[in-house]
Amino acid sequence: MEVHNVTMEISAVSPAQYPVTNLPEIALVGRSNVGKSSLTNTLINRKGLARTSAQPGKTQTLNFYNVEDALYFVDVPGYGYAKVSKKQREAFGEMIETYITSRAQLRGVVSLVDARHAPSEEDIMMYEWLHYYKVPILVVATKADKIARGKFNHAESVIKKALNFDSEDSDFQFFSSQTKYGKDEVWQWIENHMPN
Ligand code: GTP
Ligand code: MG
Repeated sequence: MEVHNVTMEISAVSPAQYPVTNLPEIALVGRSNVGKSSLTNTLINRKGLARTSAQPGKTQTLNFYNVEDALYFVDVPGYGYAKVSKKQREAFGEMIETYITSRAQLRGVVSLVDARHAPSEEDIMMYEWLHYYKVPILVVATKADKIARGKFNHAESVIKKALNFDSEDSDFQFFSSQTKYGKDEVWQWIENHMPN
């Protein structure tokens, strides 16, 4: 998609504040500091629209970015997450859970992990949780500029193995907001998940 017009339309903490539209939405989730806001900025060709920070926890609300009046990107605060048992659910950020389980126009979730490391427990739980709710998932291994191309295959298999990756309903892409590696592929995935 050629993106020219993007506005950060709404910061929401509860459903009453979500935008009242039927535009499709793509959410971005991942550990604090993994690069969600940077990925948003890269996809929409804007350096500083989504606030990025070397300090984790910069994003504290659900931020709805209206992209060309065609879709919303929803930048989600970084984890804590937990699995789907009752006790664990309590630990899960209620805001995120409410959004992902109740938002009818959510078309897919881009789940970011760090390309350099095996996924954390929280990354794994997030993936399992999304999988449980049958949300289409694109696992994006970001900061790919920090590993050599020759290590991509190995890094991909480490990540997929740890996640127990299911290629039936999940896809995988390396990405770098620094070099823009993978940008077209991420966009393609998003477009593939838009309603016709
Ligand atoms: P929270 O809002 O705290 O959840 O963080 P976030 O996931 O939005 O991370 P953010 O985009 O703010 O990036 C965190 C740090 O990682 C910043 O210092 C970014 O410059 C850096 N960063 C993000 N993406 C990349 C990337 O692809 N490559 C490199 N080298 N650095 C990156
Ligand atoms: Mg952020």
